[in-house]
Amino acid sequence: MTHLTDRHCPALITHGTAADGAVLTLPLPDEEFTACRRCPGDMCARAAQHIKGDLSILTQVVHGPAPPGERPPADPGARIRHRWLIGHQLAFAVWRLIRHTLQELIRTSAPQAAERAARLYDIYTVLFLYTGSCSAARYAATVRADMAAHDPALSGEWHRDHMALPDLLRQARASCPASVLAPLTAAVKRSHHIHMAVAGKLVPSGQSLLQQAGKQAGVQPTEAECDVIDDFFQVRRAPICEKAFIAQAIRRLVQVVCDIRSYGLTDLEPPPQVAARHRPDLDALLGSTIGRFTELADFLMTSSPSLVDLSTHTGGAMTSLTDDTKTVPITPALHRYLVGHTMAPSRVQQDLMDHTHALGTVAEMRIPHEQAALLTLLTKLTAARDIIDIGTFTGYSALALALGSPPGGRVITCDTSTEWTGIAQDAWKQAGVADRIELRLGPALETLRSLPHEPTIDLAFIDADKPSYCDYWEELLPRVRPGGVLLADNVLYSGDAANPDATGNAQAIRAFNAHVHNDPRVENVMLPIADGLTLTRKRNDEHLTMEACS
Ligand SMILES: C[S@@+](CC[C@H](N)C(=O)[O-])C[C@H]1O[C@@H](n2cnc3c(N)ncnc32)[C@H](O)[C@@H]1O
Repeated sequence: MTHLTDRHCPALITHGTAADGAVLTLPLPDEEFTACRRCPGDMCARAAQHIKGDLSILTQVVHGPAPPGERPPADPGARIRHRWLIGHQLAFAVWRLIRHTLQELIRTSAPQAAERAARLYDIYTVLFLYTGSCSAARYAATVRADMAAHDPALSGEWHRDHMALPDLLRQARASCPASVLAPLTAAVKRSHHIHMAVAGKLVPSGQSLLQQAGKQAGVQPTEAECDVIDDFFQVRRAPICEKAFIAQAIRRLVQVVCDIRSYGLTDLEPPPQVAARHRPDLDALLGSTIGRFTELADFLMTSSPSLVDLSTHTGGAMTSLTDDTKTVPITPALHRYLVGHTMAPSRVQQDLMDHTHALGTVAEMRIPHEQAALLTLLTKLTAARDIIDIGTFTGYSALALALGSPPGGRVITCDTSTEWTGIAQDAWKQAGVADRIELRLGPALETLRSLPHEPTIDLAFIDADKPSYCDYWEELLPRVRPGGVLLADNVLYSGDAANPDATGNAQAIRAFNAHVHNDPRVENVMLPIADGLTLTRKRNDEHLTMEACS
């Protein structure tokens, strides 16, 4: 390993893959990025161009297939080597973001920093699933053999970019209230369990290279050992500017997303086995891989003030995520801003959000607060009294609807889970609206079919199992009064709704969106709030009918 000491920004940005010999240039973990003016020539300008080009590929891949030039190796052996390298290189960049975020959290105890660190840990966990997505036999024949040939003692403990994280987590635990840390604690636990499961799948004997080296976990590695692992993962250490760092990270991110788009994450081997209690966490992470990586692009693009200058530099790299200049992509910074300028949650709502967060990944099912504020407002604006909420979970949407309804109003809310709705019922009582909410336990379709056929419902909100959306729509619409409102959540499905090749839930959402859009009984608009919300008004023309979804 050559530890470069030149003080220039090398801005090494290559569009080749790591397997082709692409080198990732990173500063040492405790080194700050160097100033751009140290970069020779137009290197920073080139970084900006690369970022702009890569963000546009990313947008394309989120909505459709990977461009032919970006497809990873087809051969499974070559592909797992490619995944191991690219996935690790991207993880090194994510660790740097985690490190900065944890330092901010320790300094400020800000809930947003804990939330961001949790999201970054989840991204890192998905990356680990990506890098370890092969069978034990293939791993032994390829990656493990390569590592052993490089150095029989090669160990994950030698990753210098990761080394500080356990200690920073300990400091965060010592300095922040448990309620602030709750999402981070859950994400770290998730990460640990899934790592153990992947490691157990790849090396069933549990005999790691580290153990063969006769070392104990936790022993501080030497500089030379850190250099060995840097060498293996083609990492060169040199001071670089932040733009060059981001350009390299986004390049790898594009490669990962193109690979997953082309082959999926589980084509080489099914996901690891995890204990039943972690299954929902694993499913949620596997179900949102592309969304995690677009989120990482946002984290990278908003990670430093120097990027404000970058978006000018590129003619607006951020806006290249959309073709429409009137539509502002919601970055984490903008999201925080809009949340900060929306009615704040009440104490009961905040407690309910905290309680739901503590459940782990499933907490993602809750509608975000700004969407709840919109539900409350829509309920008030339409003076809705007779309301249906399909998909209760821990009761946030039902609470928002009840808070908007007048005394004497009624929200029927449907779910199958007694555990989650138990949490909901406590919150409704604390908010003083329990008498307005009627929980119906059981399959929502049966509940809807048991309701009177008369068109009395003022407002309905659909937010349960996606394949049943069309059926819910067909049961609800005749029961909604003319002029009444029907709302449906998750209609963008993390962006996958726009993918013609979407499968599973995203495909069901696409069928539902087409169904609503072609339904002459309603006027409709799709709002880009949260995961996408369809807002419709039932027309007065009652003679019109609609065929069921195909
Ligand atoms: C996305 S969550 C709802 C989130 C909720 N609206 C909120 O604001 O927190 C979906 C819920 O639908 C429930 N669900 C799924 N399939 C269902 C079905 N067939 N009938 C009733 N509920 C169902 C799940 O148990 C889950 O609690």
